[in-house]
Amino acid sequence: MPRQLFVTTALPYANGNFHIGHIMEYIQADTWVRFQRMRGSHVNFVGADDTHGAPIMIAAEKAGKTPQQFVADIAAGRKPYLDGFHIAFDNWHSTDAPENHALAKQIYLDLKKTGLIESRTIEQFFDPQKNMFLPDRFIKGECPKCHAKDQYGDNCESCGAVYAPTDLINPFSALSGAKPELKSSEHFFFKLSDPRCVAFLEKWTQDGKLQPEVANKIKEWFTIRTNPDGSKSEGLGDWDISRDAPYFGIEIPDAPGKYFYVWLDAPVGYLASLKNWFDQGGPKARFGDARSFEAYMAAADTEQYHFIGKDIVTFHTLFWPAMLHFSGRKTPDNVFVHGFLTVNNGEKMSKSRGTGLDPLKYLSLKMNPEWLRYYLAAKLSGRNEDIDFNAEDFMLRVNSDLIGKFVNIASRAAGFLTKRFEGQLSPACDPQGQVLLDEIAAASEPLAALYEAREFGKATRDIMALADKVNAYTDVFKPWDLAKDPANNQALHQVCSVLINAFAMLTRYLAPVLPGVAQSVQAFVGSDMSTWQHPGPVQRIAPYQHLMQRVLPEQLEALFEPPAGTEPEKDAPKKGADAKKPAKKEATPVDPNAPGGEAIAPTIGIEDFAKIDLRIAKILACEAVEGSTKLLRLTLDVGEKDANGQPQTRNVFSGIASMYQPADLVGKLTVMVANLAPRKMKFGLSEGMVLAASHADEGTQPGIHVLQPWPGAQPGMRVS
Ligand code: 2FM
Ligand code: ZN
Repeated sequence: MPRQLFVTTALPYANGNFHIGHIMEYIQADTWVRFQRMRGSHVNFVGADDTHGAPIMIAAEKAGKTPQQFVADIAAGRKPYLDGFHIAFDNWHSTDAPENHALAKQIYLDLKKTGLIESRTIEQFFDPQKNMFLPDRFIKGECPKCHAKDQYGDNCESCGAVYAPTDLINPFSALSGAKPELKSSEHFFFKLSDPRCVAFLEKWTQDGKLQPEVANKIKEWFTIRTNPDGSKSEGLGDWDISRDAPYFGIEIPDAPGKYFYVWLDAPVGYLASLKNWFDQGGPKARFGDARSFEAYMAAADTEQYHFIGKDIVTFHTLFWPAMLHFSGRKTPDNVFVHGFLTVNNGEKMSKSRGTGLDPLKYLSLKMNPEWLRYYLAAKLSGRNEDIDFNAEDFMLRVNSDLIGKFVNIASRAAGFLTKRFEGQLSPACDPQGQVLLDEIAAASEPLAALYEAREFGKATRDIMALADKVNAYTDVFKPWDLAKDPANNQALHQVCSVLINAFAMLTRYLAPVLPGVAQSVQAFVGSDMSTWQHPGPVQRIAPYQHLMQRVLPEQLEALFEPPAGTEPEKDAPKKGADAKKPAKKEATPVDPNAPGGEAIAPTIGIEDFAKIDLRIAKILACEAVEGSTKLLRLTLDVGEKDANGQPQTRNVFSGIASMYQPADLVGKLTVMVANLAPRKMKFGLSEGMVLAASHADEGTQPGIHVLQPWPGAQPGMRVS
């Protein structure tokens, strides 16, 4: 009986295009799904847009669209990414679709019957300037658990704690900056603190299915304890599942003006997309599965798996299983958690800001999507750990493994077979060739076990070790030497046939990662590449056509070239454009435990510091720079005079436009590096640099803060 697998990736918010972090998750899941299908499993692999919530409502309003139109426009842009990277969801749906409205309401009503839903009047933050209750994401403040600054109102991106916005220390409205006021409102809660829920979830999360590092982290959420600073950790709290109008979401049955909090209906979207796929007759057409969605979900042998990032573990391992279980449904068989992706040792991919590697730009440069699939697979494991895309490493890995080790096997053997043996392979084999082919065939089950466990990095390493052995065999028998003497024809035929058979088996092992290559090889060797089982020796080959080009350094240069109009941001005080260059040595990885997110630089002597001439500068004028979203042009007075004794000013470009209106800076004093060599930039000459502070992790702690001296400092004074 084939395994019945229902597989999803996290549903992306419909407020922006996919970034490389999304693509990584989809490639991970798609690779696993393709492997399962090769093993004969029946897999339904679905995704959807996560459409609801106040941030999307506010973004739509800003864009002058209805939320429905706004999310439809985002959805319309999904296909080029998915097709481009060979990510083959069976269905892509929306959490605003009728199926999701109906399912979310039904699950809620079923939960209500268990007595686990309770309504309470709570005090909630209200923005007196905007005249609305503030959504969690629009209240910021200090995390009540780890005291990280500038955290959102629903959960802490630093320590992962989930809390109510009212728990934040020193809250402020991110919409208006106003200090929010408390106002009362009736809210609905899912009573996760109920002993039934606690008992269920403790078992569900600690029974060994989850990755150990994930299960250990979750354990903390159940523990009531006294922290070293004397504060109490509470254990599992109840979950506020409602929001007040105005809200883009699903209205709660029998509660006009009250909507489900987006995280209540988002995971239900997994089911809605699957239901829509069943209603379209997808499983029937594909596997002859004529069951209803309901029958499929209730079947004991249906296995349900969610691929997610480490930032949304609580939602998927506490709230979601509890919602399903207590509404009388089966719970997921597992949740597979991956870490974050950084690019060139630098910036974390944040939800809203996928910096560094633009997936569409990658495709538009005609870079092969399977290079990226291979590179990510080579780095991924079954553990929840961060991985880094490094441009230099990418080029080396792809060129040396895929071209140097793998594709070369076929290109070396194919010519001789086609020219000398009409493409026909020899059924006979030399003893060493047989040993080699047996060893490759014997790797089938161990490799399958690695794919099953999502140990793709280990699988690709083992496959490349086999490719090394094939290349060593080639170097021993040297087909190019054998070809010189017709007396060696039989040996040449056998050696080349071994190579092609080895190549076909290796291709099969790589097929979940490289579906496009596998398809080309299928045409080349004439054997079906859609099964994990080797179908037997290759009989004949078609003329060889080149399977893959190498990665060129120019392509990576172009990929990380900042978009036109942003080149001059070399002046930006933080990472900016520089961090996007391939393999930049000085890029500082974010270290959450270090001050400001990065370790203190190595010690220097006073003589080193004295070389930097810092001066007080008065900002005489400030203006936006046309063609740049990041730069402001500053006219600075540092007390200098020209040969005629006339006051002289400096022109400096600074990457601070995201934080300051030009008018706010005019007349202010700041500090500049006055002896920095002038730099020619696209927009003009920059004659120095203004000092500003920022956190190394721009993803979660954005903001650039220009330095200002205490009163009494005058333009031109040296800072030491
Ligand atoms: O964190 C996010 O991007 C959410 N949109 C993920 C939702 S996953 C599921 F629950 F829908
Ligand atoms: Zn925290």
